[in-house]
Amino acid sequence: MTKSIHTDYFFDETAYNTHDGGYVPLEEPDVPQQPLRVPPLLKPDKETPTDTYYTVVAQTGETQLLPGKKTKTWGYNGSLLGQTVVFAKGKTMHIDLKNELPELTTFHWHGLNVPGPYTDGGCHAPVYPGKTRHIDFKVDQPAATLWLHAHPCPSTAEQVWHGLAGLALVTDETEAKLPFPHNYGVDDIPLVLQDRRFHEDNQWDYEADYDPDGVQGPTAMINGTINPYFDVTTQRLRLRILDGANRREWRLHFSDDLPFTQIASDGGVMPEPVEFTHLMLTCAERAEIIVDFGKVTPGHTVTLYSDDVPLVRFRVHDFETDDTQLPDHLVDIPNPDVTPDTPVRKVVMSGMDEAVMMDGKKFEMQRIDARQKVGNVELWDVTNTNDMDAGMVHPFHMHGTQFLVLSRNGHEPYANEHGLKDTVGVNPGETVRIKVWFEHTGVYMYHCHIIEHEDGGMMAQIEAYDPDHPQTYKLMDMDTLMNAVAEERGIDVKDLKLPGMSSYEKMGMKM
Ligand code: C2O
Ligand code: CU
Ligand code: CU
Repeated sequence: MTKSIHTDYFFDETAYNTHDGGYVPLEEPDVPQQPLRVPPLLKPDKETPTDTYYTVVAQTGETQLLPGKKTKTWGYNGSLLGQTVVFAKGKTMHIDLKNELPELTTFHWHGLNVPGPYTDGGCHAPVYPGKTRHIDFKVDQPAATLWLHAHPCPSTAEQVWHGLAGLALVTDETEAKLPFPHNYGVDDIPLVLQDRRFHEDNQWDYEADYDPDGVQGPTAMINGTINPYFDVTTQRLRLRILDGANRREWRLHFSDDLPFTQIASDGGVMPEPVEFTHLMLTCAERAEIIVDFGKVTPGHTVTLYSDDVPLVRFRVHDFETDDTQLPDHLVDIPNPDVTPDTPVRKVVMSGMDEAVMMDGKKFEMQRIDARQKVGNVELWDVTNTNDMDAGMVHPFHMHGTQFLVLSRNGHEPYANEHGLKDTVGVNPGETVRIKVWFEHTGVYMYHCHIIEHEDGGMMAQIEAYDPDHPQTYKLMDMDTLMNAVAEERGIDVKDLKLPGMSSYEKMGMKM
């Protein structure tokens, strides 16, 4: 059976970030090529057949990104980004989250189905400098590429910009049996796509680059490498691609339009593989793809581009023939029935710049905006009402669950949206219908994943509750947070400026 190959980016061209007045185009960096950094796997402190123990340390450091001065960066168990954490399905994880930064942070496991708000690690789970928070949870979801990032609203964007973003891979037996490349670092490699602007002495300056619609830089950074190449030694290569940028959309394609096959989305393996020549990712989305270099002559280079700018050069070496075909059907995914007599929940993302809101409101840490019973299955209609110029795509993300995308303005979702997702790009003027259920109780955030929009208040929170076991939560409040940060910085709280606050101030609101 010959399958169709998708050759377009699906999203509305008129809403691409390139149309934003503040758009910063990527530029090819004028520095020598460097081997792609592949984040090492984090070694457990201890491992038994049923339990794994890890220590994750948020730390400051310096990283040689460009020739000359090193760049001051932040990372997890390293100077930049993170070591990759592996969560084997069925096992119980015990993790010490250690903060060696000069300011408070939180450790959010984006895409992980765990109780909120503390294990989930959103803004209600601060870890103060020099302190450690301990979490335990059982891994109970299919194999997937997830990520860890800081989430201390309203400085999530700034901390991620400093480098606090790592990968977390869920593994399971179903995925292990599928004919995918599985050799991490050899034929199974992550690609964290980010962009930065380098200032004097090769340093980053978040405030100088601040834009309420999302901070961008002209230089692509892949796994914390500028201008990388990767030596391909196998016919098939699996890339776990994460849009880890604060704002940037990536429009990916290879040289000569080499086709590739997407096998997984945010929440894991998709029911069916989908073939592409072009793929757009919005912030926080993941796509796992398999690239087949079988028709490439060893000695040649295949380049991955975003728009017209090269991101990674794949230098193809000799490889053993591997003509493994993927089955037409990969996995079954859950699709529970909607709970009878449940109204469709409406969620509206509106505004741009400082005016961004969720349901006409800005985020408030102590306000719970919605409630959904654990186990109930609901339809959510997520609307993007942007109409200024051509508007913009807002990537809608939910904590604590993986959802199904049912339709876009009543039409079929995109070909690669038939698997579990935790983030979905919503075009201007569009309503995306998703099916949502929670397996754990907790308070969970949902928001636009343009991180400056999230910090700027395009965010709300829902309590997933169990009527038989009512719970109360200690939610973070703005005064506690501001006082702590001011104290850590050794300044008066009145002088504290967090870029995310400007969105509230310009709208005449308090956080
Ligand atoms: Cu990537 Cu609120 O999360
Ligand atoms: Cu998240
Ligand atoms: Cu947005």
